[in-house]
Amino acid sequence: MFASSATIAASFGRTNHCTATAGPEALNLSRMPETSILAELRNATFSYGDRDILRDVSLTVPRGKVTALMGASGGGKTTVLRLIGGQQRAQGGEVLFDGQDVGRLDAAGLYAVRRRMGMLFQFGALFTDLSVFENVAFPLREHTDLSEALVRDVVLMKLHAVGLRGARDLMPSEISGGMARRVALARAIALDPELVMYDEPFAGLDPISLGTAAQLIRQLNDAMGLTSIVVSHDLEETFRLADHVIILGAGVVAAQGTPDEVRASTDPLVHQFVNALPTGPVPFHYPGPDEAQDFGPAGGRAR
Ligand SMILES: Nc1ncnc2c1ncn2[C@@H]1O[C@H](COP(=O)(O)OP(=O)(O)OP(=O)(O)O)[C@@H](O)[C@H]1O
Ligand SMILES: [Mg+2]
Repeated sequence: MFASSATIAASFGRTNHCTATAGPEALNLSRMPETSILAELRNATFSYGDRDILRDVSLTVPRGKVTALMGASGGGKTTVLRLIGGQQRAQGGEVLFDGQDVGRLDAAGLYAVRRRMGMLFQFGALFTDLSVFENVAFPLREHTDLSEALVRDVVLMKLHAVGLRGARDLMPSEISGGMARRVALARAIALDPELVMYDEPFAGLDPISLGTAAQLIRQLNDAMGLTSIVVSHDLEETFRLADHVIILGAGVVAAQGTPDEVRASTDPLVHQFVNALPTGPVPFHYPGPDEAQDFGPAGGRAR
């Protein structure tokens, strides 16, 4: 269904710019050389008002790898992506991209850094009044002075890489949710980013589309020499796909390492998460007034 990695690499016409290829023994991150980390949070803190979202988060995103960022809903995964992308600034600690502190960049610096990142937003968000072609062309028109002929070539190459070259003239209302996700992916890689951040790329996909999407993320990562961060709730597919897994819980990193290392973690939150247990440290309820205040004394009314 999709082009092979070699075809994708050829269609992008670029060489692998990944500078460090870590062998299995290098997965012990404490021994990894600095250059093999593309993005990093060091003791990052972030709150909305007096609500602490990230209390003390330190994590690394190894260059050239697929990193999965997982954790309970509302735990701050999208927030981490927004810190790396510079859409939000951490109140404490550091957020590094290729050694630069994203939180301290001025507007020009941020613009330059963002051009090196592609983002697949949590809620798809294609421009509904633009065709598939124009959606993918959008960042090229925004960020480059490419001629119309070159824009066409790049757009068709990116659409080809996601298997949708033939759908260029369709409008978003004429394609399926899975196809829309692939168009959004083509748009995210339009500017040849070094880092692609996928916020829940599998949500709402059927098992076949989900497997295909995961394969595509892997192929693009390896063929283009990208670094990928995938936020996902799909445990099985994500553990199969990822080289490095980070589990976020209660404002801190509960575990990070290879999928096997994380699976073996004895941390109660990680245990609850990787075994999909309904009870454990992860609360079901968003913080709020206690039940008696909203429902009256116990037994006072039907539940
Ligand atoms: N703009 C905002 N203003 C106030 N609070 C916010 C805002 N955006 C997010 N939050 C809160 O921050 C917390 C973390 O949100 P975030 O979107 O990072 O979670 P998440 O891990 O991505 O969740 P999900 O898996 O449901 O997407 C949530 O509890 C949310 O209520
Ligand atoms: Mg989210």
